[in-house]
Amino acid sequence: MARESGSFGIASRTIGTCALLLGASQVQALDDGLARTPPMGWNSWNTFYGDISQDVILQTANAMVGSGMKEAGFRYIVLDDGWISGRDASGAPVENRTKFPKGFKFLTDSIHALGLKAGIYTAVGAKTCMGLEGSLDHEAADAKQYAAWGFDFLKNDWCKNVPSDLVSRPMVLYSRMKNAIQATGRPIVLSLCEKGQSGVATPWTWSDSVGHMWRTTNDINASFSTVIGRNVNGTAGLAAFQHPGGFNDPDMLEVGNTANGMTETEFESHFSLWCVMGSPLMAGNDLRKMTARVKSILTDKDAISVDQDSLGLQGARIVNDAGGAMVFVKKLKDPAARAILLFNNGAGPMNMGVKWTDKEIGWKSSDKVTVFNIWSKAKTTGVTDGFSASGVPRHGNAFLLLRNESMPTGIRRADSSGSEPSLERGRDGFRFSLPAGASGYTLFLHAPNGERQAFRPGADGKITLPEGALPAGIAFAVLSGPSGIARTWRLANLR
Ligand code: GLA
Repeated sequence: MARESGSFGIASRTIGTCALLLGASQVQALDDGLARTPPMGWNSWNTFYGDISQDVILQTANAMVGSGMKEAGFRYIVLDDGWISGRDASGAPVENRTKFPKGFKFLTDSIHALGLKAGIYTAVGAKTCMGLEGSLDHEAADAKQYAAWGFDFLKNDWCKNVPSDLVSRPMVLYSRMKNAIQATGRPIVLSLCEKGQSGVATPWTWSDSVGHMWRTTNDINASFSTVIGRNVNGTAGLAAFQHPGGFNDPDMLEVGNTANGMTETEFESHFSLWCVMGSPLMAGNDLRKMTARVKSILTDKDAISVDQDSLGLQGARIVNDAGGAMVFVKKLKDPAARAILLFNNGAGPMNMGVKWTDKEIGWKSSDKVTVFNIWSKAKTTGVTDGFSASGVPRHGNAFLLLRNESMPTGIRRADSSGSEPSLERGRDGFRFSLPAGASGYTLFLHAPNGERQAFRPGADGKITLPEGALPAGIAFAVLSGPSGIARTWRLANLR
């Protein structure tokens, strides 16, 4: 084993400090049975900003049922910033009664009566992004009140007035709210909205100990170039950090929002990208006024089945070329199936395709595969070698479900049998093996605060990490190969 030259000593010390500050229990994934698949719902911000009211929320809840979205799996109706008027004498938060005249108990009862769930928003600092009351030093009272009101989901922002001694310690603040919520005994999904403002710029490496989903980028807006350049590109490389109970969140959807001229083709690609990435699906449009096409995109059961697959994986981006071609592959619970997204982010129509032997598909050219096109619903059986789509329009896509008919359901075939990198826990520590003859690999051990240690394999192609080399704060091992991230392991799963 050879350590990569550089900051090992420094990183090690920092990790040690971090582990001490946090305590071992705070770096375990929540794993409390909630959000085993990406949460689905609606959030008020992208359309209404702070201008929310009882009428808007209840009309939206009814529209979620009437449009077929509830039947398609959408559940949470989430109030974003703009609901709080202040605190009462006991410190409990009070809803704005001008906007919500019958109060929040009435609101959540009405949402629950429709078979839906209710969500609310706060921020860890003293102020929310709108400059209203945040939860700092009121975590217990706030959590108690959210539970008493009957909320099932909490979006917890970062934003303003975070005390300077806590600015770079987001886990401390998010732990406070997580503990307060858990103390209420009510199952509440925790959606974190720290986007790197804390200076600990990798929320995905620590958030799963304190939340079920976490933002990966700054705010989305209804412009297609922002959706791709910021939200998709900022999330595509983070597949390693996602798992049932903990999801990367590229932000609420802008499907249906035309403020910046997004087209229906772009809405379809935007939705397909979120589904192939297995992202939370929080609609952000006005559900009361949807075109038929927007409604059919948001309720497409085949697209949603890709998103909601129980493995909870984020699809891997296997192509991202300078001409704008992007190809994603998502492995699914059925080992003989793959979801493929061919997305054209180029300047004109494009011919796009995949081969069965491609990375993340890993089948034989001769395998006979059924190709189902999610948007056209066309099905072709017995396809060998690969699939190509000609003339995919600019900003359009082909979203495909593949099923390998040469591979019976339930039988798992290794993608590259016998030569996959592996990481095992033995008596004397972790033993990591590379595929025979592989070169150019580095193993990174990530701590929740974003610090990492790098190891290169010895001449035997192996790295053995003795117990002592693995500080308590380490959460992920990421194997980086010659063409990017090759494999990742959540170490908690190996313990
Ligand atoms: C931040 C969040 C948004 C929204 C606003 C509310 O910008 O990222 O999603 O919650 O605050 O003020």
